[in-house]
Amino acid sequence: MSATISLAGKIALVTGGGRGIGRAITEALAEAGATVVIASRKLDKLEAAAAEMSHLKGKVVPMACHVGRKEDLHRVVRDTETTLGPIDILVNNSATNIGQGPALDTTDEMLLKMVEVNVLAAFRLVNLVVPGMIARKTGGSIINIASISGLKPQPGGLLYSFTKAGLLMMTRSWAREFGPAGVRVNAICPGLIQTDFSEYYWKDQSRSKELAGDQPLPHLGQPREIGHAALYLASDEASFVTGHTMVIDGGATA
Ligand SMILES: NC(=O)c1ccc[n+]([C@@H]2O[C@H](COP(=O)([O-])OP(=O)(O)OC[C@H]3O[C@@H](n4cnc5c(N)ncnc54)[C@H](OP(=O)(O)O)[C@@H]3O)[C@@H](O)[C@H]2O)c1
Repeated sequence: MSATISLAGKIALVTGGGRGIGRAITEALAEAGATVVIASRKLDKLEAAAAEMSHLKGKVVPMACHVGRKEDLHRVVRDTETTLGPIDILVNNSATNIGQGPALDTTDEMLLKMVEVNVLAAFRLVNLVVPGMIARKTGGSIINIASISGLKPQPGGLLYSFTKAGLLMMTRSWAREFGPAGVRVNAICPGLIQTDFSEYYWKDQSRSKELAGDQPLPHLGQPREIGHAALYLASDEASFVTGHTMVIDGGATA
């Protein structure tokens, strides 16, 4: 049995793959030999990130994409599949978090925006990518980055928790339906991870201590601690794993 995971010859699409958790996932997949398309809004930042990852075994290819725009998602999937080949691994990682605060202050517009970026984008990408996986009979791996806030309401996070809970239920529903065709669908629920996204929670030392200090593993989570989990789920080593929610939170929800 080989102890090293290889994704040589595989094509992956990671939304938001240029920084934070998405970047760590990209590094893990590309280090294992996959060609990884990183897609988000800021092409210059993606190009810089791809250049920094050029030493990895697999190629990292930047593509501009606002995941809330249907036409962008179509273009990225089409360009990936025509220039690099069919997508084997899809990581729905990009997310936004507007409307943090009291539930009664949130608006229709905020809810629709949150759904568009955090749920509809994943729904659309799955609909674009999975039919090809099924038709080719080559299998595939979908990984949805949710959150522990989708398991338990985040204080002041009505919309964030709602969208992540929705993504978790879609994960399990997709897993049931696509499993017989060899397409696995799993979710990762990170706890507090040190990225730009969660800066509010960790930049202030006392707030960070209050949150992470109570965890059985009391350190602030790092993006690479999610990257390696995604590598496992993406690989054939996880061939019996689908519909699973992998909680990686230092034991915060234990
Ligand atoms: N950090 C945490 O503590 C934590 C905890 C639980 C779950 N998560 C989840 O982990 C995932 C990654 O978060 P992170 O912490 O790594 O955040 P991050 O470092 O802020 O990265 C967010 C990524 O999403 C992209 N993005 C945002 N809006 C986008 C849009 N409209 N279209 C395309 N891409 C967009 C950003 O790229 P551009 O700016 O270039 O578009 C960026 O690459 C998210 O799903 C988040 O909900 C994070």
